[in-house]
Amino acid sequence: MRSRSPPRPCGVTPSSGEGEVPVTAPPLLALRGISKRFGAVQALMDVELEIHSGEVVALLGDNGAGKSTLIKVISGVVPADKGVIEWEGRSVQVRSPRDAQRLGIATVHQNLALCDNLDVAENLFLGRERRRAGPLGSICRLVDSGGMRREARRQLDELGIRIPDVRVPVAVLSAGQRQSVAISRAHLGEPKAVLLDEPTAALGVQQTSHVLDLVDQLRERGIGVLLISHNMGDVKAVADRAAVLRLGRNNGFFDVPTTSHDQIISSITGAASSA
Ligand SMILES: Nc1ncnc2c1ncn2[C@@H]1O[C@H](COP(=O)(O)OP(=O)(O)OP(=O)(O)O)[C@@H](O)[C@H]1O
Ligand SMILES: [Mg+2]
Repeated sequence: MRSRSPPRPCGVTPSSGEGEVPVTAPPLLALRGISKRFGAVQALMDVELEIHSGEVVALLGDNGAGKSTLIKVISGVVPADKGVIEWEGRSVQVRSPRDAQRLGIATVHQNLALCDNLDVAENLFLGRERRRAGPLGSICRLVDSGGMRREARRQLDELGIRIPDVRVPVAVLSAGQRQSVAISRAHLGEPKAVLLDEPTAALGVQQTSHVLDLVDQLRERGIGVLLISHNMGDVKAVADRAAVLRLGRNNGFFDVPTTSHDQIISSITGAASSA
């Protein structure tokens, strides 16, 4: 049985005007009126979204609804044309993936961005390699491969990820193991928010269950998770709230445990509009 955070009002907290006392603590991450156009395509239009620490928010919508674009905006890959990103109640600029990382936002993109020819440990530490102690590290810039392998092993064990040998190239891993490595890599930077773009899309039943267990663990550690999925089973199993995008616009916010499959599906297909 997966534990969820206590129910929270659906939708977004109204921004308080001057002199008003805010009704709740600010969300970890809030998007206010985010718009993005690619040439003739209006990928996002006035999108609102809130994620609190220790909750899983599912981001749903048909193909082309704007889900990945929204994650790219939050993670600094694509700049928004308009709108505000608030982090812990303050308006912030996220101009690059490094900006997002500095805030504590880690992203696992739809294409995973793992390096097939590198091993599991090297992938986990990609871009933040550990150097050997003393002059070998500081002057010769030698990496501490043994230390990184030990830390990789510890991290995988802690998250319950079953990969027997961290020295195998990720190319030989199963799809589920690759996804777990990518999530583990995101977790290694001690983020406050993790954005997952369709982490279970290519996975079988058991692998999906492992990945959903990982999502649970992120929530239990107080991390706010944004989870894109087309699978209502995943959403029902793990999400606290769901936000639906349709043709780049908000089309509904739902408290997942108290909402039926059909209500959410209607919002995705456009049979119902409740934004
Ligand atoms: N770099 C780009 N240049 C031009 N158009 C783009 C670009 N990125 C996305 N789009 C368009 O923006 C719209 C939203 O795309 P996006 O990838 O965000 O959808 P999605 O909801 O993630 O879909 P899917 O479920 O298929 O992954 C689509 O019409 C897409 O073709
Ligand atoms: Mg996508």
